[in-house]
Amino acid sequence: MTHHILIDTDPGVDDAMAIFLALRSSEIELLGLTTVFGNSTVDATTRNALNLLHVAGRDDIPVARGAWRPLVLPLGETGEWVHGADAMGNIGWTDVLKPELRAVDAPAARFIVETVMARPGEITLVPIGPLTNLALALQLEPRIAQAVKAVVMMGGSAMAPGNVSPLAEANVHNDPHAASLVFGAGWPIVMAGLDVTESIPMDNDDFAALAASSDPLGRFIPRIVGHYQDFHRDWYKLPNGEIHTHDACAVLHLIDPTLFGGQDWSINVPLDGLAKGATLVDRRGSFYTTPKVHCLTTVDHARLIDVYRTRMGATARVRR
Ligand code: BDR
Ligand code: CA
Repeated sequence: MTHHILIDTDPGVDDAMAIFLALRSSEIELLGLTTVFGNSTVDATTRNALNLLHVAGRDDIPVARGAWRPLVLPLGETGEWVHGADAMGNIGWTDVLKPELRAVDAPAARFIVETVMARPGEITLVPIGPLTNLALALQLEPRIAQAVKAVVMMGGSAMAPGNVSPLAEANVHNDPHAASLVFGAGWPIVMAGLDVTESIPMDNDDFAALAASSDPLGRFIPRIVGHYQDFHRDWYKLPNGEIHTHDACAVLHLIDPTLFGGQDWSINVPLDGLAKGATLVDRRGSFYTTPKVHCLTTVDHARLIDVYRTRMGATARVRR
């Protein structure tokens, strides 16, 4: 089965890892990237999206520029402190590598609507940044909720602590109003949240293997990951170059859903206060009537890392 997908993204080091994985997976046809603020401004994330596709030799894949700010809240701090000044690990991208490359005329929300409505039941949306573009697309054309095949997102958390506040994960916290609309829309959602994305660190061993990859895209990843590793060392006290492999988890779920286990729960997102941007999950099934979301809660770490490594042209891990 081929998944025909749009990745909605704020690249971002781990976004780049997810996009390259999608490009190297025969189960996936990447129809476009839509960009959003988050790890940097939307100017920078759009530039990075164009450049990543160019590095991959895929200038044919369209990029649609999306929201520069959340639906309701003002733009908060963007994520350069995590992902580097260019949000690409300080690789030095200040411009589009090939100047004639541009985003398409349609803004991301319209591009999403047109893509989904042109192929009812076929398109999977893979948001790995703040959910603003998806919310705007729902406002533009509510029927996409029935026309989409699925939404497979990275964001939120069912049980794990937050990563930008005690309760909230960054993508949901960056635009809680948008997340609330997306969780309430009634379309089939898989949520790859911190429960699984933080439990699968890749480390120095994996990046050494990628540096020796037979695939230039595999070899590109160690070039952008250093600043992101430093952040994880300083913030999470991870000693061996480990990073949280957040965004690739959404793509990995499409490639092989048996890598994960999960449960269907309703979710509500507080819009302000101490719990702003948290994904409050009704694990008893007693309190909320909002649509159920398939929340990933377990992951086969060893197998998943090897899927990532081998897809990117590197050797599998040698188990001790
Ligand atoms: C999410 O926030 C961003 O920094 C990452 O790219 C990922 O999408 C993790 O909370
Ligand atoms: Ca992201």
